[in-house]
Amino acid sequence: MKKWKQKAIVQKLISYLPFAQKINYFFQKHVTKGEKLDDEYFYDRLGHAKEHINCYQKYTGNSYPLSSLEIGTGWYPIVPISLFLIGSECIYSVDISMLTSKERIATTLKKFSECHRIGKLNQYINFKPERFEVINSILANIEKLDLKQILNQLNITYIIEDARNLSLLDNSIDLVNSNNTFEHIYPEILIPILKEFKRVVKKKDGVMSHFIDMSDHFAHFDKTINIYNFLQFTDKQWKWIDNSIQPQSRIRIYDYTKIYNDLEIPISDLTYRKGNIEELKTIKLSPSFASKPVEEIAISHCHYISNMTKI
Ligand SMILES: C[S@@+](CC[C@H](N)C(=O)[O-])C[C@H]1O[C@@H](n2cnc3c(N)ncnc32)[C@H](O)[C@@H]1O
Repeated sequence: MKKWKQKAIVQKLISYLPFAQKINYFFQKHVTKGEKLDDEYFYDRLGHAKEHINCYQKYTGNSYPLSSLEIGTGWYPIVPISLFLIGSECIYSVDISMLTSKERIATTLKKFSECHRIGKLNQYINFKPERFEVINSILANIEKLDLKQILNQLNITYIIEDARNLSLLDNSIDLVNSNNTFEHIYPEILIPILKEFKRVVKKKDGVMSHFIDMSDHFAHFDKTINIYNFLQFTDKQWKWIDNSIQPQSRIRIYDYTKIYNDLEIPISDLTYRKGNIEELKTIKLSPSFASKPVEEIAISHCHYISNMTKI
C-alpha cells in the first residue's frame, strides 16, 4: 500500500481518539519524524515573515506592526518571534488547540540564534539588537523559566479559541496573517473566520496577509504521488479519505478569490506559483475540478494581501 494511504488511514483512526492532536504529535515525532524543526521549514516560514513585514511596510509606511494576529501558528512560532524581533508589542496567536510548548519554543529560539550566528537573520528581517538580547537571555535562563514567562518576554499571547468568534476588539490589530493554514479550513468555517478578521483588523493602516499551500500535503511525505493527486477524488470519496487532524479542503485559487470578493475584502496584491500543468494532466480530475481551466487548477501556492485602509 502506498505510504500516503497508510498515513491517511492512521490519521483517520487517530482523529476519532480523545487527545487526537497530542497523539498525532507523538506519532509524527516517533514514527514519521515529521515534527522536526528542520532548515527547510524554518527558512520557509522566515521567508513568510519577511513577506508579511514587507507588505505591511509597503501599505502603511510604518516599519513594523504594533499588534498582530496569526491563526494556526502550529508547533513552532517562527512568524510571531520574527515580529517580536522587529519590534511588535502585542503578538497574538489563535488556535483551537495549544500546539506549542516550552520545549518547542526553546527549539525555535535556538534556530533563530543559529541563523543569527551564521549571519543569515538580517537577510530576512531587520531585527532590533535589544530584542535579540531578550532571546539570548531566555536561552541562558531556559531551565528557570516556564512557558508563560517565556511568552511574556516575547510579547506573545496564545488565544485558545475558535477564530470564528474572537475575543479581540474591533479595529484593534495592525497585521492579521496566516501561513499554510487556510487550506486546512473548509469554506463554511473559513468564511466566518475571514469576517472576524475583517472586524478586528484596523481599517486605517491595517493589513491582512495570508499564504496558502494548495498542494496535496500527502505528496510532501510520499514522493510517489504528485501535488495534484487528491484532485482525482469526488467530494464524497474525499470526505472518507480526509481527516480532522490535518484536513485539506482542496479549494483552489478561484474559490479563495470568490470568498474575498463576496466578503468585500480587498485583494491588493495576489502572487502565486503556477504549478506544473504536465503533472496535473497525469491526474484524471474529479468532475468538481474538471470544468475549470487547468492553468487555474494547477496553481499550487498563493499569497493574498489586503490593504484594509481601502475599505
Ligand atoms: C496545519 S495547521 C497550520 C500550520 C502552520 N501554520 C505552519 O506554518 O506549519 C492549521 C491550524 O489551524 C487551526 N484551526 C483550524 N480551524 C480553526 C479555527 N476555527 N479557529 C482557530 N484555529 C483553527 C488548527 O487547529 C491547526 O492548528
